[in-house]
Amino acid sequence: MKDKNTHHLITSALPYANGALHLGHLAGAYLPADIYARYLRLKGEDTAFVCGSDEHGAAITMRAKKEGVSPREIIDKYHHLNKDTFERLGISFDIYHRTSDPLHYETAQEIFLRLYEKGDEFEERETEQYYDEEYKQFLADRYITGTCPKCGHEEAYGDQCEKCGSALSPLELINPRSTLSGQKPSLKKTKHWYFRLDKHEGWLREWIAEGRLDGQFHHDPKSWKKHVVGQCMSWLDGRLIPRAITRDLDWGIPVPLPEAEGKVLYVWFDAPIGYISATRQWAAEQGKNWEDYWKGPNARIVHFIGKDNIVFHCIVFPAVLKAHGEYQLPVNVPANQFLNFEGRKFSKSRGWGIEQHEYLEVFKDFPNKEDALRYALLRNMPENRDSDFRWDEFADYHDKDLADKLGNFVNRVLVLTNKYYEGKVPDAAGNKAFRQDFDKLSLTAQSSAFRQKMTGLAQNWAAEIEAFNFRNAANAFVELCELGNIYLQEKAPWALWKANPEDPAIAACLNDALQLTTLLSLITQPFIPFTSDKMRRLLNLPPLQNGDWKEALQKLQEQKPLLEAGHQIGKPEILFAKIYDRKDDSRLRIIEAQKAKLQALLEEEKKGQAPELKPTVKFEDFTKLDLRTGTIVAAEKIPKANKLLKVEVDLGFEKRTVVAGIAEYYKPENIIGQRVVLLANLAPRKLRGVESQGMILMADDAEGRPGFLSPPEGWPNGFPIR
Ligand code: MF3
Ligand code: ZN
Repeated sequence: MKDKNTHHLITSALPYANGALHLGHLAGAYLPADIYARYLRLKGEDTAFVCGSDEHGAAITMRAKKEGVSPREIIDKYHHLNKDTFERLGISFDIYHRTSDPLHYETAQEIFLRLYEKGDEFEERETEQYYDEEYKQFLADRYITGTCPKCGHEEAYGDQCEKCGSALSPLELINPRSTLSGQKPSLKKTKHWYFRLDKHEGWLREWIAEGRLDGQFHHDPKSWKKHVVGQCMSWLDGRLIPRAITRDLDWGIPVPLPEAEGKVLYVWFDAPIGYISATRQWAAEQGKNWEDYWKGPNARIVHFIGKDNIVFHCIVFPAVLKAHGEYQLPVNVPANQFLNFEGRKFSKSRGWGIEQHEYLEVFKDFPNKEDALRYALLRNMPENRDSDFRWDEFADYHDKDLADKLGNFVNRVLVLTNKYYEGKVPDAAGNKAFRQDFDKLSLTAQSSAFRQKMTGLAQNWAAEIEAFNFRNAANAFVELCELGNIYLQEKAPWALWKANPEDPAIAACLNDALQLTTLLSLITQPFIPFTSDKMRRLLNLPPLQNGDWKEALQKLQEQKPLLEAGHQIGKPEILFAKIYDRKDDSRLRIIEAQKAKLQALLEEEKKGQAPELKPTVKFEDFTKLDLRTGTIVAAEKIPKANKLLKVEVDLGFEKRTVVAGIAEYYKPENIIGQRVVLLANLAPRKLRGVESQGMILMADDAEGRPGFLSPPEGWPNGFPIR
């Protein structure tokens, strides 16, 4: 029998398991995917929402080196941190897998071999690459630093200069150094496998620009975001070249070829395959067929990512899948732009921004902290351009939309229903008999108009989500709340009640309002799921299930009630306690503390007191330095070197020759007798033919003029400094 079901596969970019994620990541690739997946489930669609940790690559090994631990320790720590944090924020992955899992190794190696066996997808190349002789290993791009040829920044990486943003290759760096040994790396021959991306340009262009694949309709090209298509086109207009998909590294998935010992797959080759492994694992656990989601004719794949990952998801990975031959390509890649934080880029080193788990910690006493955050990020999602997260806006969205528009409306409806009808949903026609057989003819003209508007807005909400316009969908939600508030305000059932409690218009109005409240319990589910759950409880309705939206939409269209007359609802409870509350400033204080922290950072910066520190070193690293007190006993200029002095330092137990770059500032005769601190176990090196046997410690003043660090008066030479 032919499978007619659509199988939705939703992916969020696999985070590197070498750090925590900040609010920008959440708004970029996880919250929108979660909204979409939750919506599809509500609609009754067969959906797999997968993610996991990206656990290979030089970013992980470098972090491990820096901290002096194994990569395994790093990935275990951050895998669990990220997985738990997502869960606490209500990101409803069906699986959060990891690329260190054996099933992933198998999947990635299988795909590599399949392409290898095709014969013309790969090209083997021998090239020269930087090699660290001391550490006996090839250096990944990130392991090489040097001077940027474009801007002169001295700490540029082998793949990129973070100062000017240029993409670089390690061979372009001036004065390259290995980050492992600090030495100049040598060039050494090595063989790698290159994926012939250049062969795929033709169909990629047709697929992305026109939405056609193998001559057939694949997707509506207008359904893709302009900035996504634009970035792809500018890549295609440049030239696609073969890309190395293997690396000389000791951490990663071994290249499954006998001749490739010691080589691993490039992290960007294996990582997207992680989506497939995750699906396989999930399907095995659920008794489903993973191929329905990846290979079947009704698979519908959507990748949620940030804009820095567009090329990999729209060009490289699709080309790999196409080369394989059996896979479906994504129907959309609704990448987001970047979220800034209070006007600047998130920066961990400067302390600018907030990480997701940190938010949960700092806001631990803030009611509904998860939904408050999800909602603020939703309203400000960087869908088509960069956007900015601000605490003041966070508070405004919370108070104006959630507490006032949604919270007050729901509260009023629940309070009035309890007060007038003992919590039983009154009949829409205003009968107290709680007629179950809803009869649209008995609706007043006003009720009909209200319900029509309500249905229209609900339909907009759904259409906007399906088009990945989540901000517009949020607007539809706000309009629904406004519709309810205005309706109550105009009909003023409390005034009618005073005049005549038997007035059928009261029951009619509250029935309408209860229909909207029930609808809102569905509409809020993808956005603010914790609140949606609570609304279901307050309405005394069962938790939402897959397919409930589909059913509700049908009822709306047929003008049937979402909530039956006679249904007993629960007691009212406040949904959101305002932040700006004159009687209780506890919530405002949490936000003020965050703002104060940023203010303090800005002030520090103004004073020029917030330099960027080098990465942390361990105590053990520090104790490797042998620092000794000494005295300069001789000094002379080095011929033809106008910056260098040859200095003799007496350490008491021996004398050392040191070459110091201070000739512009000090005359040799003026520094005889100068007390100094010497790094006495620095490996000797030759400068201008003179062997330098240590380094004199100096500190620059504001003008950059070096001054000697000297031991306290009267201390003998040769004493260790700790
Ligand atoms: N780890 C990558 C990043 O954080 C994203 C990998 S997405 C995947 O930029 F497709 F490769 F998994
Ligand atoms: Zn630069």
